[in-house]
Amino acid sequence: METPQRVIRVDDELTLRAYEPGDLDELLQVIEEAREHLVPWMPWASDHTPESTTDFLGSRAEKWASGTDHTYAIVLDGAIVGSSGFFLREGDPAERREIGYWLHPDATGRGLVTRTARALTLEAFRSDPRVAYVEIVHDPANTASGAVPARLGFTDLGTVPAEKLAPADTGEDRHWRLTRDQLPILTDGAARS
Ligand SMILES: CC(C)(COP(=O)(O)OP(=O)(O)OC[C@H]1O[C@@H](n2cnc3c(N)ncnc32)[C@H](O)[C@@H]1OP(=O)(O)O)[C@@H](O)C(=O)NCCC(=O)NCCS
Repeated sequence: METPQRVIRVDDELTLRAYEPGDLDELLQVIEEAREHLVPWMPWASDHTPESTTDFLGSRAEKWASGTDHTYAIVLDGAIVGSSGFFLREGDPAERREIGYWLHPDATGRGLVTRTARALTLEAFRSDPRVAYVEIVHDPANTASGAVPARLGFTDLGTVPAEKLAPADTGEDRHWRLTRDQLPILTDGAARS
């Protein structure tokens, strides 16, 4: 098992990098500008404050070291435009990781999160041999989110009842999964990104 890379250069324009406390001002501005776009689907967005973002950044190092949360800034041409990460949720088996993501609305529509989710799926498998599958979970009404795993070739596992945590949540979650033996789907160019 290895610590995941703190900086992942995905391509010429897109880099993923672990957050630092010094990202506070830039991240706050991005969240503030993106707030309306995030509130329907991100439970934390409605009541985010400078203090909650400070706490978020302050807890990154410990979470990274514990192996439970590897959250990266999505950096486009040097500027933070969103966040994505892979997580081991409390109570989950060590073989599972889940990927989450959000973008500033101006950064949508150009494949950034699809490229990010592909890179983070590869990194989750590479850094920990115990990881047997990576999942992406979203509300079925959040079609932009669901299009990401679909584009990458994840398998649709269907929906399960879920707690409504964000304003637009319907009370169901759709789960998508990519298993370690399906990795060639990502690496042989079969995925559409
Ligand atoms: C979910 C979210 C990140 C998806 O953003 P997105 O821009 O649709 O996703 P991507 O960055 O992968 O871009 C895909 C789009 O870029 C296009 N695209 C352009 N170049 C591409 C490339 N190289 N690879 C893939 N897609 C590409 C795709 O066709 C697609 O456009 P379309 O929606 O018109 O079909 C965004 O809607 C968001 O931030 N929502 C609010 C937060 C949220 O819901 N998070 C998820 C909670 S589960």
